[in-house]
Amino acid sequence: MAYDFLDAYEKSWDALYKQKGFVLRHSIDPIIPLVSRTLDKKGIRSILSMPCGEFTNELHLMQQGIHVDGIDISPRALELAEEKCRKAGLSNYSLGQGSVFDMTENNRQAILCIDFFVQFPYSKIKEILRKFHTILIPGGMLFANFCDPSDSTFGVGKVIGRNEFLLPNGIMMKYTTKQKAEQLVINAGFHLRTAKKYTNKEKSHNSFRKGATNQSGEPYQEPAHTHVKHFMILEKAEP
Ligand SMILES: C[S@@+](CC[C@H](N)C(=O)[O-])C[C@H]1O[C@@H](n2cnc3c(N)ncnc32)[C@H](O)[C@@H]1O
Repeated sequence: MAYDFLDAYEKSWDALYKQKGFVLRHSIDPIIPLVSRTLDKKGIRSILSMPCGEFTNELHLMQQGIHVDGIDISPRALELAEEKCRKAGLSNYSLGQGSVFDMTENNRQAILCIDFFVQFPYSKIKEILRKFHTILIPGGMLFANFCDPSDSTFGVGKVIGRNEFLLPNGIMMKYTTKQKAEQLVINAGFHLRTAKKYTNKEKSHNSFRKGATNQSGEPYQEPAHTHVKHFMILEKAEP
């Protein structure tokens, strides 16, 4: 399968964020308070958020006193993030535009990666995990999630591979079982400290899946839906 559409992600995502009234998420991901508590316990006061999107989750962490460095491929997402921080009167953040595949850092204590692996095939997920492994210092933490095949959006879009669907907006959805997710992170050199299956009820995301059909060929009218995800707290093994 050729995943050429991945090369156009900057444009695809930017076009989405530019749509009037577009809402990526209505509230923070329910796992974020656990991220904040874990950082607190470990005494970590700064985190890299990759990709940060429009900074909804990150705002919560900043309000707990954590410094967030956000990176995203979409310039428009970063404008929205900047606006959100300004409105909240918060300054403990930095923003930068870029792709995960071009990152060259190697001294981070923690990385937050929410709703990202769901957009990539396994070959790319492996590459991203390797990249995160390089970016983190030994003992550094990665907070990441995967989307399970029991997610209520499973089957929306054109089938392009096993558990893989392409949406009309040019973004793919990849659903991963707990077993496979664990295999991917462990093979990338991480210790699995916590794995937690959780659900996240969402209102319609307006146009995120606009124009998609379900597997019976009927137009998908996005209702409120329930995401089923696997959250993992990972630690880079000490050498
Ligand atoms: C589903 S959103 C998640 C955003 C944020 N983590 C959240 O949970 O709200 C996926 C994000 O990935 C960004 N993105 C896509 N490809 C990327 C890449 N190669 N490098 C960095 N960001 C990318 C998109 O612009 C989008 O903001």
